[in-house]
Amino acid sequence: MYVCLCMGVCDREIREAMSEGACSVSQVMECTGAGTRCGSCRPTIAELVGERDGAS
Ligand code: FES
Repeated sequence: MYVCLCMGVCDREIREAMSEGACSVSQVMECTGAGTRCGSCRPTIAELVGERDGAS
């Protein structure tokens, strides 16, 4: 599933970035490019980041 349409980043890529140490929206943005254009996907990125926080 695409999270960021602007940059063509899917949830799997975001999870990968998180498993490599990205633990905030800005770090995910840096690693994947997601959220760096229109910004409308940032809440979804935040959800994914929060999801992992809840699990760990
Ligand atoms: Fe992610 Fe636009 S959908 S920056």
